[in-house]
Amino acid sequence: MSSVTLQTLKQRKLNGEKFTMLTAYDATFSQVVSEAGIEAILVGDSLGMVLQGHDSTIPVTLEQMVYHTQSVARGNRGALIMSDLPFMSCATLESALNSAAELMRAGAHMVKLEGGRWLAETVTKLNQQGVPVCVHLGLTPQSVNTFGGYKVQGREQSAALQMLEDARVLEEAGAACLLVECIPTLLAEEITENSKVPVIGIGAGPHTDAQVLVLHDMLGITPGRTARFVKNFMPGSNSVTEAVQKYASEVKNGTFPGPEHSFE
Ligand code: KIV
Repeated sequence: MSSVTLQTLKQRKLNGEKFTMLTAYDATFSQVVSEAGIEAILVGDSLGMVLQGHDSTIPVTLEQMVYHTQSVARGNRGALIMSDLPFMSCATLESALNSAAELMRAGAHMVKLEGGRWLAETVTKLNQQGVPVCVHLGLTPQSVNTFGGYKVQGREQSAALQMLEDARVLEEAGAACLLVECIPTLLAEEITENSKVPVIGIGAGPHTDAQVLVLHDMLGITPGRTARFVKNFMPGSNSVTEAVQKYASEVKNGTFPGPEHSFE
């Protein structure tokens, strides 16, 4: 049992206190990030891009997610571990249940899946089986081919209304938290205000209950151009731990993300 639980995160939302999440894929960074006070670690399928050099998360397999979740669990010092259900693992209810079981056995405390209200039954069944679920809305990277690129989602009114309805339906179905990626600040604010469960944002402005970034992005070691919502916390920091702590304090005092990291 980690010392940060889902109850901790829910209480933070109730108290109006922000919390932080970072990705980690191995034991060393898991230890660094959790000891620096980050409340939640995401074993993201972004590892397909960050570690494996693919141009999307689509090639990542369940077996690889299990391997990295086990590594993160060994290094963790008290954070809540959330692991991604990879591409197509939720195509059927049976596959979603079996895949989530593998991740939980590997050391995850909850799972994240990408999609909308059509996943309501899956969310309910997972929850009934003791698997807390975070639903990823907005720019869901596993659907990059459907979107035609990594683009901001929810800018048109109809898309924004659909996302608000997805969030409502999935929360009612039992989602333990929501994660919104690359959506306009005002839409993220509305989703956060309407939700009783914590809402974690990335490229979604400053009003969500929590923020997440890919660790390698915020350490400035991602090659090439990074997304607008990324901030490099290494300049001025003497160590990785210091950069992670700076990220946490800027999220908590509301200075990160700024308008330059957000979308209208
Ligand atoms: O896979 C991942 O790291 C993610 C974050 C970008 C939210 O889903």
